[in-house]
Amino acid sequence: MTTFPKLLQEQLLAAFTKAGHSLPDGFQPQISQATDSRFGHYQSNAAMVLAKALRSNPRALAESVIAEFDGAGLCETPTVAGPGFINFTLTTEAITARITPMLADDRCGVAKVDTPRKIVIDFSAPNIAKPMHVGHIRSTIIGDCLARVSRFLGHEVITDNHIGDWGTQFGIILHGWKTILNEEALDANPSAELLRVYKTLNDQIKAEDGTETITLCRQELVKLQQGDEENLTIWKRCVDLSLNSLANVYGLLDVSFDHFLGESFYNGALAPLVKKLKADGIARESEGAICIFSDGEKSPGDDPFKIQKDGEWLDVPAMIQKSDGGFLYATTDLATIDYRAREFKADAIWYVVGVPQQLHFRQIFDAAIRCGHTDIDFKHVVFGSILGEDRKPFKTRSGESVELLDVIEESIDRARKVVEEKNPELTTGEKADIAEIIGIGAVKYSELSQNRMTDYVFDWEEMLSLRGNTAPYLLNAYVRTRAIFRKLGEDVTDFGTEFEITEENEMALLVKLYQFAETVPEVLTDHRPNVLATYLFETAKAFHSFFEACPVLRSEGVTRATRLALCELSSRVLRQGLELLGLKVTERM
Ligand code: ARG
Repeated sequence: MTTFPKLLQEQLLAAFTKAGHSLPDGFQPQISQATDSRFGHYQSNAAMVLAKALRSNPRALAESVIAEFDGAGLCETPTVAGPGFINFTLTTEAITARITPMLADDRCGVAKVDTPRKIVIDFSAPNIAKPMHVGHIRSTIIGDCLARVSRFLGHEVITDNHIGDWGTQFGIILHGWKTILNEEALDANPSAELLRVYKTLNDQIKAEDGTETITLCRQELVKLQQGDEENLTIWKRCVDLSLNSLANVYGLLDVSFDHFLGESFYNGALAPLVKKLKADGIARESEGAICIFSDGEKSPGDDPFKIQKDGEWLDVPAMIQKSDGGFLYATTDLATIDYRAREFKADAIWYVVGVPQQLHFRQIFDAAIRCGHTDIDFKHVVFGSILGEDRKPFKTRSGESVELLDVIEESIDRARKVVEEKNPELTTGEKADIAEIIGIGAVKYSELSQNRMTDYVFDWEEMLSLRGNTAPYLLNAYVRTRAIFRKLGEDVTDFGTEFEITEENEMALLVKLYQFAETVPEVLTDHRPNVLATYLFETAKAFHSFFEACPVLRSEGVTRATRLALCELSSRVLRQGLELLGLKVTERM
């Protein structure tokens, strides 16, 4: 099914040509959804764009194009508005005619891409043996949504959880394991005990005047990195225990990974990589360490290895080997790129990581391109932070960072109250299942409905509200679509072929539903799940308005068939859309 904007674009291009304007090479008139329904369904700024290039009057140019425009039953005669916008209103016939093909399409009209790419998505990536905190939630939820959308669009997606399983935290854990570990507590609740060990020593290090504890921890880390048997055994146990508890969180969140190739996986590749970077002149020695510097090819403003200070451009090298021989985060990331290029044949690698690592990724991408990875499309999908109600980083009351598992549990708990209030007749088991769907959905949706760059305030009341742009609101719209078919007492599979649109609300809802096909690909334009979230919110609103204005079961004949079809399509689009966001649906709530 070709989308309406595509069809309009073809007709509009034909009209531009027919009107005899000399068009720049590759000229493609842009069609966008109308911002205000009074201006029709779609609009184009193409006449304004062209008028600028041709130095002519945009309104006159628009008029000349409209005179040649053949609506072909698709839309009414376009109109010119404002400085030269061309507005399109779809005909009722065209809108009605699309119901049957939309019903027959199990992808809700969404086409697969013409040229699928192999996309590696690097997300979640917590540092293990430390708790996974809410900061990782953004990465986990955004990354999972991008993976779902990319797969649905036909790309080949490889999800890789680059866990931090080789970092300095293991120095602390190893020393703690040998001195203060409680084996019984470890058996009972491994992640809690590992956390206790980590925190106790970390607090001790912070409180110490001298460097006694930190030195002991560092020594344990060096021993681990040099392959000490005992330390490796402890490390392996920690990794396994942590992965187990992570699996629990991912299970609850319904997030999965194709690979868990953490930092330790690349350990053996680091020394040869540094050697090669030196041999290729990309890295060199500096004050005993090995660093990557600017290649001098870019203007300093675009150069990730330059920074301006007091009007002067200074070097900001990326260290890849310390003077004591140790390797760094950047070294591992470069080795990881080599691997993903070689083994996965990646066309694109997306990193869903917070703002603080922006410089790191700019440097890594630049260095990787200099190493020859010129045909990989690298993208740092950046996000801001999660704030508490005081607009400071989200913390527990005692000031500790909030753990993801606790957030999920609390959300499910709070959702249980919502269900209790809304539908006390459900059985206890049903209530528990629904509370889980709403609770987890609410945490995910409050993330996905945000522009990823903004710092957002974590607000329980708001995210579990049945009103507004929330998961419960969307789920409720879906539940309403299902309730109709339950009341009807049958699952309709045949909606007939005769449809008739008489009401504004029916029309508005249908156009919205068709726009699902245009919206899903938009998510990947700038890696923004909120594009889809906003769309689903608007669709839910359109459904509620339709539902309140247009009786379904009490109507008859063609009108009833049409409205049932609308309920069915709303149901499908909402379910598919929520699934792409990573939310499960419920039949009642
Ligand atoms: N473990 C890192 C952190 O928690 C994130 C890793 C992101 N991925 C990567 N390839 N660097 O900050």
